[in-house]
Formats: sequence, structure tokens, C-alpha cells
Amino acid sequence: MSKIQIKKAVFPVAGLGTRFLPATKANPKEMLPVVDKPLIQYAAEEAIAAGVDELIFVTSSSKRAIEDHFDKNFEMETELERKGKKELLELVRNVVPKGVSCVYVRQPEALGLGHAVLCAKPVVGNEPFAVILADDLIDGFDQPCMKQMAEAFEYNRCSVLGVEQVPREYTEKYGIVSSDPITERLHRISSIVEKPKPDDAPTTLAVVGRYILTPRIFELLELTPRGAGGEIQLTDGIAALLKEEQVLAYQFKGKRYDCGSKLGYLKASIDFALKHEELAEDFVSYLRKRFGEDGGKIEKMPKRA
Ligand code: UTP
Repeated sequence: MSKIQIKKAVFPVAGLGTRFLPATKANPKEMLPVVDKPLIQYAAEEAIAAGVDELIFVTSSSKRAIEDHFDKNFEMETELERKGKKELLELVRNVVPKGVSCVYVRQPEALGLGHAVLCAKPVVGNEPFAVILADDLIDGFDQPCMKQMAEAFEYNRCSVLGVEQVPREYTEKYGIVSSDPITERLHRISSIVEKPKPDDAPTTLAVVGRYILTPRIFELLELTPRGAGGEIQLTDGIAALLKEEQVLAYQFKGKRYDCGSKLGYLKASIDFALKHEELAEDFVSYLRKRFGEDGGKIEKMPKRA
């Protein structure tokens, strides 16, 4: 059996990012940096590590900064070259590695995640593809999350959703699946429901921002009416897909940070700083000085005027 590899990844980045206002009034939330890299670059690197060579961004009018980030910055490169700053030059040039291309599609109105994915149809065409929500930053530890999922896809050749257990009080924020285990990490999904109230949620297994989908999803999304919040929900499209094809849930190895929320973003910033080659040592000594060896001195700082 020949190998089917995922070569295209869709990054829906046309949401309004209201939870992060006013930071996201003029800047996309996907450009928020965790230490020194914007969220969208972590997402692109994760896709590339899984074998993707075409990055498809679904953008809106206020997201120019994303296109600029992945574009060549001639002036910056010339200046770094002139000053002999080779490492920085490499860093800037490798934002998009050789052999990887970027495509931008507009979502004219924020009509929901399902609609955003549908906007990528003409570029994706008739092949399975990945979807990554950059505000769900996942540290896959040994292996990036999408790489783990791509392996599950290559073996099973059907749609695979990234899932994790969430506390019951949070089910209202996620698509929730019911499933039967195949292996420890892989489950066969029997149903999926968008944002159920904690009392109505069939399980606490939540879909997070990682998907591998077969192209049939596009035709089903075209038929999907507006659902929760008046938006075209990807979850509703997947519920329709489930009636026709096997869809698997994959419990990835790693830690997810919900960087669409302020608290999740702060947690990611701290953990990534504690792992950062240049910063970790100084950051640890700052935290020790600030909070004491055992963290017992951790307390809120007085509010600035
Ligand atoms: P969110 O539910 O996080 O919405 O979208 P949001 O608008 O980005 O943020 P808040 O809730 O207002 O703070 C999940 C993902 O789907 C994309 C977003 O960019 C985000 O990556 N999205 C959402 C779109 O691309 N288009 C949409 O119409 C809605």
C-alpha cells in the first residue's frame, strides 16, 4: 500500500480574538510572541515537522502582520548581512524553510471555524489535510503533536482529531466526543457535539486545535447550516463526516496551552522561558529571588496606577 502523506496544513487565523482585547485590536492574536516566537510560527514549525510543505493561512483584513512575518524582509536581511550577524540572519531566513510555500486565502466575514476551513477548499483540493489552530500551543515534548497525528493517519487512512481530557466544568468551550478505545491513545469516535453544558456533556474528551481531515469535509461543510453562536461549526461538519467515514480521536503526548486565553498564554510564556536556551538560567534565578526557593513567597504584585 503506497504511503499517503499530509502535505498541506490550513491555519485559520481570521477570528476576532476578542478575549485578548485590546492587544488584538490591530494585531492578530496569532502574532503574540511566546518568549521570542509568535504563536503562528510555532504552529507552522509543528506542521513542517510533520512533513507539510504548503502552509495555507485563512486570514482576514486585519491580519497583514502574518503575511509580513512569513515574507522575505529584504531590508532586515541586508542590514544583518552587512553587520555580519549570521545567526540572526539564519533565524530570519528560516522562518519559512526552503521547499515550503505559503498561500493566503481570505475569509471575508468571521462566520466560524467551519467556514474558515471551507475557505481553504480551492487551495487544498482533493487530498487529506491538517488544520492547526495556532492559539492552542502544544509542546509535544519528544515529538510534535501533528507528527504524532500524521503517523496515526498514515496507518489508519482516515480523519484524526487531536483530543485531551478536560475538567467537566469546561466542556462548554470545546467539541466533545464519545468514543470507543482502539489503543491507549487512539479511539473510534461514535459522536461529537459542540460546546455541551457540563451536565449534558456525554464525556470530557475534548477536541483541541489539531485535526487531520479527509477532503469530503468540504462538501459537508458546504451543506452545514449555522450552528452554535450563529457560526458554521467545524464540529457540525465532522458530525456529518462521521455518518459516512471512520473518524478517530488521538490523545496526543504533550502539554497544551490555551493561548487564546490570558491565563493559558501566561502559563506558556513561563514554561517556554524555563526551557529557553539563552534565558532559562537567568529566568530561574530571577524567579528564585523573587519567590524564594520553594515558591512560598509567590503573591500578587500591587496593582500599578
Ligand atoms: P476562537 O473560538 O478562538 O475565536 O477561534 P477567536 O475569534 O479567534 O477568539 P475569541 O474567542 O474572540 O477571543 C478558534 C480558531 O478559529 C479561527 C480563529 O482565528 C482561531 O484560530 N477562526 C474563528 C477563524 O479563522 N474564523 C472564524 O470565523 C472564527
